[in-house]
Amino acid sequence: MDAIAIRPRVDPAFRNDVLAGLAAPVPAVPARWFYDHRGSELFEAITELPEYYPTRTEADLLRRHSHEFARLLGRGEAVVEFGSGSSTKTPILLSAIRPGAYVPIDISGDFLRESADALQAQFPGLPIHPVEADFMRPITLPAEVTWMQKLGFFPGSTIGNLVARTAVDLLRVMKETLGEGARLLIGMDRIKDVNVLLNAYDDAAGVTAAFNLNLLHRINAELVGDIPVDAFRHRAIWNDPLSRIEMHLEAVRDVSFTVSGERFSFREGATIHTENSHKYGHRDSRILLRAAGWGVVQEWTDEKEWFSILLAEAEPPRFAP
Ligand code: AVJ
Repeated sequence: MDAIAIRPRVDPAFRNDVLAGLAAPVPAVPARWFYDHRGSELFEAITELPEYYPTRTEADLLRRHSHEFARLLGRGEAVVEFGSGSSTKTPILLSAIRPGAYVPIDISGDFLRESADALQAQFPGLPIHPVEADFMRPITLPAEVTWMQKLGFFPGSTIGNLVARTAVDLLRVMKETLGEGARLLIGMDRIKDVNVLLNAYDDAAGVTAAFNLNLLHRINAELVGDIPVDAFRHRAIWNDPLSRIEMHLEAVRDVSFTVSGERFSFREGATIHTENSHKYGHRDSRILLRAAGWGVVQEWTDEKEWFSILLAEAEPPRFAP
């Protein structure tokens, strides 16, 4: 009966990021806001596109080298996944190494429980301890796994969304969360032919465009906006000096709109920066990990060297310069 009951639930962090981001000198909204229900569906569709090589390449690498993971990683280890677990990649790793426990960490409790239930059905004997938390901050792991060796798992090249400074912060926090003697298995996307990259982020079927534009629909729905979505188009560019794909929403005409009662104007050609996806060379990935206290012990890559999975060890503190 109450009008408030039918209003969409407003996430204050989303609202702050959007209002501050749209008003900024370089308008930008953090990529994490792509993933509402529709956005997550669109991302799933992206991972199946012929042009989008990362998911397929990484899953193939995991399958192809599963015997090596079994040998290197052994049993009885606790696999701590940063993110709630993907339907395809996590089972490949879990069945390869048969860990002592699985700890998925995600900020969204709903996704976490859904994927934990699905995995439990697939691995009935595996102790699963989901943790609902923001993994950008240090986390105390469940008591059941404190005595086990930890293997962090961070697939998907999600690290690429972060600029180097933030990526190093996250990798250092992961080291703290996982503790002494931990290892980390991380997927990172490689620098490659620019056209391959551009096609992966601007596919012929327009799924990535829909994914990017969905952010505007989400803003309209959740933050009481009246953005004319057709006034914007998807743009993917390669920023070579910063070694990253950028996604933008570009105004195709002069446009004004309101969000949560605040007014914004964009000139034709002006953009909202919505995502960075950093790409790393062979040595770049190592220096990034080393800057956060992780030493790379092994790297697996495909024949084209389009994608890498790296295994790193937490380096003990040293007093070297
Ligand atoms: C989920 C961050 C790995 O950067 O490739 C896919 C997201 N954006 N297409 C990526 C994404 C556009 C993706 N990550």
